[in-house]
Amino acid sequence: MRLVLALLLLFLTACSGQFPQSVFAPRSDFSTELAGLFTNIFWWAVAVFVFVEMLLLIAIARFRARPGAAHPKPVHGHTALEIGWTLAPALILVFIAVPTMRAIFATSGHAPEGALRVEVIGHQWWWEYRYPTLNISAYNELHLPVRTAIQVDMTSADVIHSFWVPRLGGKRDLIQGRTNRIAFRADSTGEYWGQCAEFCGASHANMRLRVFVESDSAFQRWVDQQRAAPATPAKGSPAEAGERVFRRSACIGCHTIAGVAQGKVGPDLSHVGGRATIAGALFPNTTETLHRWILNAPSLKPGASMPPQNVSPQDLDALVAYLQSLK
Ligand code: CUA
Repeated sequence: MRLVLALLLLFLTACSGQFPQSVFAPRSDFSTELAGLFTNIFWWAVAVFVFVEMLLLIAIARFRARPGAAHPKPVHGHTALEIGWTLAPALILVFIAVPTMRAIFATSGHAPEGALRVEVIGHQWWWEYRYPTLNISAYNELHLPVRTAIQVDMTSADVIHSFWVPRLGGKRDLIQGRTNRIAFRADSTGEYWGQCAEFCGASHANMRLRVFVESDSAFQRWVDQQRAAPATPAKGSPAEAGERVFRRSACIGCHTIAGVAQGKVGPDLSHVGGRATIAGALFPNTTETLHRWILNAPSLKPGASMPPQNVSPQDLDALVAYLQSLK
């Protein structure tokens, strides 16, 4: 009964789309190629399994020891058999190798001319995205237009990371001093989850990311928003008090807010209020998580470089109001 319930649970969760990182629900040419390759090889493996098990069962049934029966005659040097069982696996391997090589070349990372270029830089433990042709940057959350060829050039600022968005493409390593590439074209809008797929230290498991694939107009709106100067808080608002707190706190040593601070250690916060998540896409961007994050980041994300901040409750409220106003 317990097993039935467990299976039922698995079945139901699979139906409700609770696996946002499933490689079996591809939404780009890259991931469709990989899923197709998997299906192809899976059926070859099924055929081999069924055939071998069938032979095994036949042998067990036909040649099992019976009282009084003579020993079966062993076969030696049967040329036809030897050639047969050498050729058959070789042929199967060819049927696996050819589509595999094809997939390797198809996903080698060269987008067609005119593709949108994105540079991905891995940090311990967050993602930096630069759009050199649009002259904007983003952090942890990558925004992309749908049905547009994307050229992703990736490198690392420190150790080796790996960019992986199972439903769109990857995984490919980010290595300091070299550029690895992937290219893909997302075929439907939506929010896709990803994560670092190469062990990179204490918070490797907390180095997550989101990709928002948007219609052209929604993407353009987002680009315009990122290009705009950060919002100036209204006179006398809590956000304005928060900006003053920000200016006199340690924040400015590590973070950039255009026109306010130019720190380069952590992510740029010029538009942090417009993000869905914080801390390497680890937590939703809410008042509560911002409070907890500012007070003690390393307790939420082991190894995080931002030390616990000693701010009064009033200053913290103001600071959070300010960050949230930076859409
Ligand atoms: Cu970055 Cu694991």
